[in-house]
Amino acid sequence: MKFFIDTANLDEIKEANALGILDGVTTNPSLMAKDGVTGQNNILKRYVDICEIVDGDVSAEVISTDFAGIVKEGEHLAALHENIVVKVPMIKDGVKALKHFSDNGIRTNCTLVFSAGQAILAAKAGATYVSPFIGRIDDITWDGVGLIAQMVEIYANYGYQTEILAASIRSPLHIVSCAELGADVVTAPLKAILGLLNHPLTDIGLEKFLADYRKGNS
Ligand code: E4P
Repeated sequence: MKFFIDTANLDEIKEANALGILDGVTTNPSLMAKDGVTGQNNILKRYVDICEIVDGDVSAEVISTDFAGIVKEGEHLAALHENIVVKVPMIKDGVKALKHFSDNGIRTNCTLVFSAGQAILAAKAGATYVSPFIGRIDDITWDGVGLIAQMVEIYANYGYQTEILAASIRSPLHIVSCAELGADVVTAPLKAILGLLNHPLTDIGLEKFLADYRKGNS
């Protein structure tokens, strides 16, 4: 399973990258705004800065919602850096644009996916990645991880090549559940990635090993 970090913050990206386990980055307009990156030029520059840190796919989201606008914006984003994957919303013109990009060799990430039906459309349109937002589904007391299970089954039934990129991850447990189900990628905040490190028995065990070492060497 590939690990992406879901942030526009360069320090967080550098910290995850330094762990040696980072395969890519996802961003969205809200994450850019959260990090104080506003205005088209600053946002485009941030995409390039991210691409220069991480050797992997970096999702850059279009703002247009009509076919011509999505295509124009997506082509511009894709030309910024070879690592850029164009993030396209799951709307009617978005699906048309996914097919257009797929036919023209531009890699895509279909975002804002909340149902198996939407996931089928994204795969049929040739999306490189599809992003089911499992945390936001849980937020409305539906089953986000259950959607991953449905998608894994459906994609396997037909051999769809689109990679399932589990998004809107809220916790380390979400990451583990996605791994159990066979999601191709998870994109998670740094806190959830680092949360995978934690186990009380590791802390207790390490403390004892170090204490015993000190006893023998004092
Ligand atoms: C995915 O690409 C999105 O950026 C992200 O995972 C959304 O997560 P949120 O629901 O925490 O905003």
